Amino acid sequence: MDLIEALATRHSVRHYTDKAIETEKIKHLRQLVEEYNAQSELHIQLITNEPRSFGESLLARYGKFSGVTCYFAMIGPKSDSLDETVGYYGEKLVLEAQRMGLNTCWVGLSYKKISSVMSINDGEKLVCLISLGYGATQGVDHKRKKPNKVSTTDVRTTPQWYKQGVACALLAPTAINQQKFKFTLHEGNRVSVKAGFGPYSKVDLGIVKYHFEIGAGTENFEWL
Ligand SMILES: Cc1cc2nc3c(=O)[nH]c(=O)nc-3n(C[C@H](O)[C@H](O)[C@H](O)COP(=O)(O)O)c2cc1C
Repeated sequence: MDLIEALATRHSVRHYTDKAIETEKIKHLRQLVEEYNAQSELHIQLITNEPRSFGESLLARYGKFSGVTCYFAMIGPKSDSLDETVGYYGEKLVLEAQRMGLNTCWVGLSYKKISSVMSINDGEKLVCLISLGYGATQGVDHKRKKPNKVSTTDVRTTPQWYKQGVACALLAPTAINQQKFKFTLHEGNRVSVKAGFGPYSKVDLGIVKYHFEIGAGTENFEWL
């Protein structure tokens, strides 16, 4: 499965079966976490066999999660860019998990923080979790905004790569499906994107930037 197929078939999954994730897959995901932490200076951790974060707490019930025992703890050094970096690298993990036949859901609110199973150093922050496992279903498709609601262009003819980048960004997960982002295509194949106001909109920004890169092809444009 390539990344385009992974992003087109991914949906948030909140109910998981008790099928354990194979040791080989966990090993591969741990390697990816190490690689992405080295690239980004994040401190992402893959937590396994920990059902308490999505136990019978009020928040977990509100979020309607069940069967979650594995998740990525998205931790990193506090800075203005932390949320966006978490979004970008977290979505890389989400799409790699999808390619491996696993399911995920970004979780900003509906979980309980179990500090004893993760390491959060001084100056670091837990931004959110990403649940991971074999879904009871593959999730469902959601209503999406139209491309003209999330993008504009300063050029006369819109190239195909830009349209494809925006189309892939529209398939990205965003908090409460808010899709509050705006892409602009400028002269010279330069692209900018801004986050709107809303919960976790900077995490969303990192996520949609990664989706845009997959759709548009990084060789076709430069971020402004
Ligand atoms: C940053 C972020 C935080 C989220 N937090 C939660 C959450 O706390 N609880 C929940 O059930 N879903 C959460 N979601 C999942 C979104 O509701 C979901 O991505 C959105 O409705 C779009 O659906 P889709 O992922 O199936 O495309 C979150 C998504 C993102 C990107």
